[in-house]
Amino acid sequence: MSQRTLVLLKPDTVRRGLIGEIVGRIERKADWRITALEMRVLDRALLEQHYGEHVGRPFYEPLVEFMASGPVVALIVEGERVIEGVRALAGPTDPIAAQPGSIRGDYGVIVRENLIHASDSEESAERELKIFFPGRA
Ligand code: TYD
Ligand code: MG
Repeated sequence: MSQRTLVLLKPDTVRRGLIGEIVGRIERKADWRITALEMRVLDRALLEQHYGEHVGRPFYEPLVEFMASGPVVALIVEGERVIEGVRALAGPTDPIAAQPGSIRGDYGVIVRENLIHASDSEESAERELKIFFPGRA
């Protein structure tokens, strides 16, 4: 089943020079295609929309601070089972719990600075793609 997902390479990925490494892992998967790619600095209003489900949680403010601290790279990735697939490549939210071989497992330590966002369901993908790429819905 071909799908579309939103991927964000977070400010830590950009600062650490890992864009190519992570984009490469996504690009090398058979059948998957990057159909949009844009570097931008996110503002609080957009982040509140994107992370709406987390507003009010203790980690929310530092998360927004971090996500607005520098440019991110936003991508649309399309292909077979890409929603579940990019989540699997990324690994679980906590990088210490993530297996080596996954992006978070290989490069992350701190939960907040876990390198990559990927939509977690078809509904999330649709909602998030509208926020980041309104012209591409
Ligand atoms: P969440 O949607 O639970 O994780 P995921 O990115 O794997 O879908 O949380 C969103 C982001 O919030 C997460 O990537 C990192 C940050 N976060 C924290 O800083 N502390 C936390 O305890 C949690 C759960 C998330
Ligand atoms: Mg999430």
